[in-house]
Amino acid sequence: MTKEKTAAIVLAAGLGTRMQSRLPKVLHPLAGRPMVGHLMETLAGLDLERIVVVVGDDMESVAEAVAPHPTVVQKERLGTGHAVRTACAAVDGFDGTVLVLYADTPLISAETLTRTLEARRRAPAPALVVLGFRPSDPGPYGRLIIGEDGTLQAIVEAGDATPGQAAIALCNAGVMAIDSGLLPGLLERIGRDNAKGEVYLTDIVALARGDGLTCAVVEGDEAELIGVNSRADLARAEAVVQERLRAAAMAGGASLADPETVYFSHDTRLGRDVTVGPHVVFGPGVAVGDDVEIRAFCHIEGARIAAGARIGPFARLRPGADIAAEAHIGNFVEIKNTTVETGAKINHLAYVGDSRVGAKANVGAGTITCNYDGFAKHHTDIGAGAFIGSNTALVAPVTVGDGAIIGAGSVITGDVAADALALTRADQEERKGWAKRFRGRKSGRKAAPAKGGG
Ligand code: UD1
Ligand code: MG
Repeated sequence: MTKEKTAAIVLAAGLGTRMQSRLPKVLHPLAGRPMVGHLMETLAGLDLERIVVVVGDDMESVAEAVAPHPTVVQKERLGTGHAVRTACAAVDGFDGTVLVLYADTPLISAETLTRTLEARRRAPAPALVVLGFRPSDPGPYGRLIIGEDGTLQAIVEAGDATPGQAAIALCNAGVMAIDSGLLPGLLERIGRDNAKGEVYLTDIVALARGDGLTCAVVEGDEAELIGVNSRADLARAEAVVQERLRAAAMAGGASLADPETVYFSHDTRLGRDVTVGPHVVFGPGVAVGDDVEIRAFCHIEGARIAAGARIGPFARLRPGADIAAEAHIGNFVEIKNTTVETGAKINHLAYVGDSRVGAKANVGAGTITCNYDGFAKHHTDIGAGAFIGSNTALVAPVTVGDGAIIGAGSVITGDVAADALALTRADQEERKGWAKRFRGRKSGRKAAPAKGGG
């Protein structure tokens, strides 16, 4: 009989000891999003009846990350088999295939999961299907023991494997599709007589075989089946995610001069004909319009950049930076919580925070908006077409009217009317010939023989 319905159990309660972290393992980010979030998004693309996530009892943060999907708490972490037992009540009465996934295997694709489920449904339907892969370093993964008839006989954990078994290349990726009717009976018979003293989910394969049931294997690709147990694994998984995001950016019509050096967030949105120079980092929450040029060495997060704007090189856009069309943000410029309107230019060495910069305004080199008085943040408003001379300090709250000019080197503490000139620097003083006399005095003294000293 072909059973069509699928319920998923995601295991996320593990302590992640090998991560050496206070943060639950599955919340460690990949491309700015918790590992478990990547998996949940993939699952959302499948036709699942329900998804239940197993968390530890001190893991409210994991429950929040997977909401609105329900969680069950595994109080004692007695192993993956125990975790699935804990979730069984949540899929009680469900008739179909139970898909078990590990939240520390976040890069798996919907396509691979679909293939696994199809293998489970294909007549004569095996009792369970395990997703296997051939990692370049099988190290800690469970080994898949294949019988002479080509079906799966058992999974042996690395710590329990004989040298002969350890030499097997085909490993357990941690995904199983199991007949819901058989699962509880198999789970309750798992023992703990193994190297870790844990209830291994993987033991259900040998138990099913013992009952004369068939177990099958579907193979997948290492790049999407990395299990993240350590920080080194996390870095490997990040490399895979970045590779995917770069490929997607280019496929979507962006040019990356040196793709390997550009880092994206899972949610980075790029328009068409965007060019991104080398060594650009996108943090979460960035949307870039068409024809934007982002030059080398920019760091951008929480920012919107509209069509035709030019950013960098060496620019930093922080959360709330809203750069309108055709605006220019140049080198060593930091923008935070600021709207830069159409065609405005902030080309060199500036900090602009909590501000509005009006259309076609020109903010000179070295301009600082002094937005923080040590207690609160204040707003700076720069009108359309205003010209802020170099090395100006705008002490917020302050408003510079449309078309106003601020003389270079000014410290502006009061509002400036539209089209006015404001400047606060001291008058220039000039002493004719002073420099020459000074040099004469100094060089005469230097030439004279040194007296005393010692
Ligand atoms: C597990 C498999 C191994 C497989 C590998 C794939 C077992 C016994 N071993 O090993 O065959 O090759 O994954 O990556 O299943 N978890 C719980 N509760 C627990 C223990 C773990 O929810 O009591 C969760 C963890 O959060 C994790 C997942 O189950 O997401 C797997 O646990 P982990 O300890 O990482 O197992 P591995 O040693 O990687
Ligand atoms: Mg693991």
